[in-house]
Amino acid sequence: MTEVPEHLLKRSKDRRSAMSGEAPSGDSPAAAAPAAEPGSGVEATAPAAAAKVAAATPAVAAEPAFVPPYVEAALKRKKIPVWAMPVLAFLPVWVFIYIGGLSPASDGKPTQLAQGQAIFAAQCAGCHGSAGGGGVGRPMNEGNLIKTFPDIIGQLEFVWLGSNGVGPAGTPYGDPDREGGQHKTLSYNGNPMPAFNKSLKQSELLAVVRYEREVLSGYKIDPTQIDAKGQLTYGNSSPYLDAEGQLVTPEGKPLFDSAGKLTIEPNWTMPVGSK
Ligand code: HEC
Repeated sequence: MTEVPEHLLKRSKDRRSAMSGEAPSGDSPAAAAPAAEPGSGVEATAPAAAAKVAAATPAVAAEPAFVPPYVEAALKRKKIPVWAMPVLAFLPVWVFIYIGGLSPASDGKPTQLAQGQAIFAAQCAGCHGSAGGGGVGRPMNEGNLIKTFPDIIGQLEFVWLGSNGVGPAGTPYGDPDREGGQHKTLSYNGNPMPAFNKSLKQSELLAVVRYEREVLSGYKIDPTQIDAKGQLTYGNSSPYLDAEGQLVTPEGKPLFDSAGKLTIEPNWTMPVGSK
């Protein structure tokens, strides 16, 4: 025979007497009301008795044993409907695309960023991933590119010449003070980045590099650097592209020499997000 411990017996006895105290003679509140017959002189006291029962009821309902912990947890948890997950996940991208002006400019031509998006999808996404997450090529998302090239002109040169055009394997490129160390050619899976000086025009180079920086890497461009047609400028409204679509310095001189190297020094100390 299993003995029931004394304290459990006492608890169940207490509970039983508590229950019967709340509902006299074991009747439910619903059964108690009809017992008050009209004209029997009990009407006046019946509501009072019902109120007493009602007042006692919440105490029973509040017993933790009536709400299992998992139900309680489910009730307290903040609920996001399943359909909202993809919506929420892509919201920052949509906001950025909206602000970044991927829609056609007022003259109906695609903006520089929209042009860059199309070039990226066709010529870069295969190695760098459609969202710039990396693959054969280095990742570009989450600010990675901006760390390598705080100044856009360094990135323009790298993409124009490719790893082998920049120098032999192990040639450092980009910001020497890059977080985690300066990047060196052929140091990522040993794969070279192809040169694009044969397959892209300089105007297309600027477009795709802007797309990588501003959309994929999340660089917040100063809006005063974008002119009315959605083109990037150095600020004081001096353009990156001349009338022939060639890249130029702020002084209007060619940005690349005949070998495709920069004719001015990149400013690696430029505060990110201000240029
Ligand atoms: C065939 C694959 C391939 C294609 C296509 C490709 N890349 Fe790359 N990319 C690479 C590899 C590999 C590296 C790393 C190079 C190295 O370590 O020398 C790289 C590096 C880069 C970097 C330097 C990133 C850093 O932080 O060091 C930039 C910028 C870049 N690619 C831009 C582009 C652009 C723009 C395009 C399209 C116009 C493109 N890439 C197309 C393979 C590719």
